[in-house]
Amino acid sequence: MTLDLTKYIASIQDYPEPGVTFRDISPLMGDGDAYRQATNEIIEYAKSKQVEMIVGPEARGFIVGCPVAYELGVGFAPARKKGKLPRETVKATYELEYGDESALYLHKDAIKPGQRVLVTDDLLATGGTIKATIELVEKLGGIVVGTAFFIELKDLHGREKIKDYDMLCLMEY
Ligand code: PRP
Ligand code: HPA
Repeated sequence: MTLDLTKYIASIQDYPEPGVTFRDISPLMGDGDAYRQATNEIIEYAKSKQVEMIVGPEARGFIVGCPVAYELGVGFAPARKKGKLPRETVKATYELEYGDESALYLHKDAIKPGQRVLVTDDLLATGGTIKATIELVEKLGGIVVGTAFFIELKDLHGREKIKDYDMLCLMEY
């Protein structure tokens, strides 16, 4: 039986600030069948791209990417915020949806040059996070062969920031 995954996304009005509707994936993760169905769709996509490595940004990119890496038997590298990675890193900065600037880091030895990389996250909003993650992979010589999300927020036009990359989104709002 195929589930309607949108039934497992909670929409919270005016969170984290007035005027914003927050799409929350935790009901989806909290249901074994829904989480498995969503993950399986990304696994099939990753197989079609002959992915050799997965990279996801803190924290929800791990939720999407790690089970895919496990199933494919490939590695997962976490892109993390400042001060979290203990060894030599590369850095990429980006603008946040609700103002401010942030940065993501990847260990310098996380990717081998020429490796085929899938970048995963729960949600594409303005695209700043995924663009920064892609930049990190490319700084290390990786080839981003695809990007995969549970959700795309169409109104924020994040897709335009990554138009040169292939993309799988399971749901749109
Ligand atoms: C959220 C979400 C994506 C990003 C999307 O993460 O999980 O990573 O924002 O927004 P963007 O497309 O506008 O960059 P957040 O920065 O809130 O971090 P978290 O996963 O650690 O909660
Ligand atoms: N939901 C979850 N995470 C987010 C959102 C959202 O609507 N926008 C930016 N990050």
